[in-house]
Amino acid sequence: MRTIVLYSTRTGNTKKVAEAIAGGLPAGTPCVSVTETPEDLAGYDCVFIGYWVDRGTADKAAQDIIKVLSNKHVAIFATLGADPKSEHAAECLKNGEALLPEGKKADGLFICQGAVDPKLIEMMYQKFPAGHPHGRTPEREALHAEAAKHPDAADLADAKAFAEDMMKRIEAEV
Ligand SMILES: Cc1cc2nc3c(=O)[nH]c(=O)nc-3n(C[C@H](O)[C@H](O)[C@H](O)COP(=O)(O)O)c2cc1C
Repeated sequence: MRTIVLYSTRTGNTKKVAEAIAGGLPAGTPCVSVTETPEDLAGYDCVFIGYWVDRGTADKAAQDIIKVLSNKHVAIFATLGADPKSEHAAECLKNGEALLPEGKKADGLFICQGAVDPKLIEMMYQKFPAGHPHGRTPEREALHAEAAKHPDAADLADAKAFAEDMMKRIEAEV
């Protein structure tokens, strides 16, 4: 089975998760940025595609790839600043999956939290007044403080287990 891991990252969180995923796949499985997507992508049986959440969905660079993934097996993973168990997180994954070509579903989905760029946090605090959902509130500060610890060792272990489980399921199908 030819498998590849592709990821889009701005500040490195999604790359770390991608590498953990590759660690759960057969040795030698390529793990590359979407900017280095191979021309023969259609020749892979299984593609793991990862994105950083940008305003509730996949970032643009990942979107461009997800939209054309017609490979037999596709797994989607993502990192986001919010609580990965929140409704927002579920939506962000669903929105990423909805970008797949018509009628195509992901074989598996994985999401975990990732530190939010401190420059972005500062910019939002400047732009939005206190009390606004993106403004400075104790809840917002706590969320960013928690996000700053991720992806942590447990997230990376979960990502690896996700990849191992996906491969087992796919191979059981063949
Ligand atoms: C422009 C921008 C938009 C973002 N939008 C969201 C969002 O809608 N929801 C969320 O939970 N996190 C959001 N984030 C946080 C990132 O998804 C999160 O920090 C992610 O782990 C970054 O991954 P990376 O290090 O691979 O770039 C946003 C970050 C940026 C820079």
